[in-house]
Amino acid sequence: MDLSLHSKTENPTPLFKGFSKLPREQRLQLLLSAGALTREDLEYLERGGLKDTSLGEKFIENVIGYFQIPLGVATNFRIDGKDFVIPMAVEETSIVAAASKTAKWVRENGSIQTKSIGQDIIGQIQLALVKDFAQFEAKILAHKAEFIETANREVAFGLVRRGGGVKDLVVRRVPRGDSVADGSMAVIHIHMDAVDAMGANIINQVCEFLKQPIEELTSEKVTMCILSNLVDTRLTEAQVVMEKIDPVLAEKIEEASLFAKQDPYRAATNNKGVLNGIDPILIATGNDWRAVEAGIHAYASRDGQYRSITEWKRDGRFLVGTFRAPVIVGTVGGVTTLHPTASLCMRMLNVGSAAELARVIASVGLVQNLGALRALVTEGIIEGHMKLHIKNLTLGAGASEKEMPYVAKKLEEILALKKRISLSNAIEVLKELRATGHH
Ligand code: HMG
Repeated sequence: MDLSLHSKTENPTPLFKGFSKLPREQRLQLLLSAGALTREDLEYLERGGLKDTSLGEKFIENVIGYFQIPLGVATNFRIDGKDFVIPMAVEETSIVAAASKTAKWVRENGSIQTKSIGQDIIGQIQLALVKDFAQFEAKILAHKAEFIETANREVAFGLVRRGGGVKDLVVRRVPRGDSVADGSMAVIHIHMDAVDAMGANIINQVCEFLKQPIEELTSEKVTMCILSNLVDTRLTEAQVVMEKIDPVLAEKIEEASLFAKQDPYRAATNNKGVLNGIDPILIATGNDWRAVEAGIHAYASRDGQYRSITEWKRDGRFLVGTFRAPVIVGTVGGVTTLHPTASLCMRMLNVGSAAELARVIASVGLVQNLGALRALVTEGIIEGHMKLHIKNLTLGAGASEKEMPYVAKKLEEILALKKRISLSNAIEVLKELRATGHH
């Protein structure tokens, strides 16, 4: 068998077929053979990952240790014709399984294509109260080229060297929404191409650097400077096209999608399901998941109502799903390069740029959404999710390693029979087992 990740073969999923049923040791060996991990990576993982707290002390304050959550890999992803092993750091049952299963389904019956729309992140400079907005705007715009040029020369020169830097400046009038009548709020947007960095620190520095020249030019007072997470100037799009799909299932998924588009109560849960695929990669790669979450939720509300961030529509016999939102991530700088587990995950992902990482993340979010919708409109979410959750319940009931297989088997039977299961079932089964002494 050709064990290279990028082998072209007739069978679309030979490499990872049965991966989930392998013991952990064999999963690691397979990732090693596929070139997704090195022998050093394996040793590092076997040792239990990062232990040295002195690194943690450099990241945050008042460190007392590390919080460890499981790191898994989602398999079967082919995005823009390239194969990926997806690292996912997450505590919730069935996310990795659903992503892998759905990626396999897509791979065998359709494709995933992505694109980046725009490149610039946004920094904001607020002037809470300007006397004459029109005059203020005119003055700023007359000196726009100068502001951009000095910011690039004095602050963003590193980005400029790599083809990025400050690209544009826009003045916005924002209603104050209070009773101060003689003046308005002005907000200057700085647009900056951060290349492969997430760009938060550098754009904040650019904005703060511009504070003084803006005040000197306009005699107005800058109130604050900070980046915006609603980066509608840099969007990532992923599209899944299912060429072979049961038309009844396609219709049901389209209807589920309508529900999430029209009803904010459903939209919130739909988007949580999308973020099930997104956050674990952000965490695994040391990216700022709060920033991406904030951006996605804000973008989902852009027309005034909170809506789904994904859409599924039938196109003839095809089902087409789209995700479009800001996914601002970095592949250089910060924890991404400093945390050894994040570096390992970045190597495993093998992406060439921050834009490609964002496109992979968007694709996994969309595929995760498809997996959840498929389950919701067919068997329901309980069956698959709870089947995997049984291990948690068994542990929660206090079963020992020896007792676990028996309790798990009994719980599977109860789930199959009643379609419901809870911790109290697990406690009950364990009690019975201990009373009868059968193992
Ligand atoms: P299944 O058909 O019983 O799985 O599905 P299977 O055992 O036949 O295996 C098929 C493939 O699934 C495997 O292929 C794996 O790729 C994957 P193989 O490796 O054998 O070649 N797979 C697994 N991967 C890793 N570990 C495993 C594992 N099991 C299967 N243990 C499954 C079972 C749970 C996948 C399915 O029922 C499913 O996809 N359910 C949906 C679950 C889901 O979406 N969970 C997300 C959390 S729920 C939530 O928070 C979101 C929600 O509220 C969002 C919304 O409302 O929109 C629902």
